[in-house]
Amino acid sequence: MFEEAQYFAPVVADADGNLTVQLGKGHPGFADPVYRERRDRLATLASQWKPGEPVPTADYTDAEHEVWRVVCEALEAKHEKYASRVFLEGKDLLKLPTDRVPQLEEVSDLLEPLTGFRYQPAAGLVPLRDFYGALADKRFWSTQYIRHHSVPLYTPEPDVLHEVVGHGNTLAHPRYTALYEAAGRAARRVESDAALQFVSKVFWFTLEFGVLHEDGELRTYGAGILSSPGEIEEFRGMRIEPLDLVRMGTTEYDITVYQDLLYAAESFDQVEDVVGSFWDTCDDDSIESLKARTTA
Ligand SMILES: [Fe+2]
Repeated sequence: MFEEAQYFAPVVADADGNLTVQLGKGHPGFADPVYRERRDRLATLASQWKPGEPVPTADYTDAEHEVWRVVCEALEAKHEKYASRVFLEGKDLLKLPTDRVPQLEEVSDLLEPLTGFRYQPAAGLVPLRDFYGALADKRFWSTQYIRHHSVPLYTPEPDVLHEVVGHGNTLAHPRYTALYEAAGRAARRVESDAALQFVSKVFWFTLEFGVLHEDGELRTYGAGILSSPGEIEEFRGMRIEPLDLVRMGTTEYDITVYQDLLYAAESFDQVEDVVGSFWDTCDDDSIESLKARTTA
């Protein structure tokens, strides 16, 4: 999931623990009472979930299953053209359904034999340390709602398509999950909010929006790009800089628009060597030292 507060519709609870998702006026589902009722119910169910329990079942409508089908179809050829080899390997291993929205529990049952990862349901924004910390335990916090059916190729928020088509295909591959777990351990190891932000930004520019050189062309391994039929067509035209921990960890980004600055690795091996090693070893002091290099 994305981790940024401004990207999530706020969720408020009443005295009985029922949640209301406060969609903004510009949200495609704002004027659809049926959609809003379902969003509220899914958020409430997620908030009642306890660790160790199965993820509650989400009652998707035929229109929502159609959204899934349309987006998967739109992404199929784009993945072949733009996705890195390691993502395509993960996709081959996971074999997600393309004709209906799978339940998170069902996807977890596919993932667990491959890498041990399982999903757990999020009502809305998960605090950074909880979101990343869970990765160290092979748990992935995920939203369950799907984007509004009126605009299947657009979502203003991270939805189950992003969580499952983007992240799920990566969580199926042990080379990816080694990185997710390392990020999780790093998030638990660092103490200051500034160090946690640095760890999180490196995650953003790699596992969410990372690109790499492969067979003479630029491809992507980031779940954010790989789950967006629009953004995947644009990333090769963005400003591309070489992989650089300090710059990734300190660059501000705007989650609400296409990412216009991306960091390209020479290979997935380099992501493992540079980013994986960073997450494996970083602490507050080492991150401060890295940041000092930019100002020296
Ligand atoms: Fe994400």
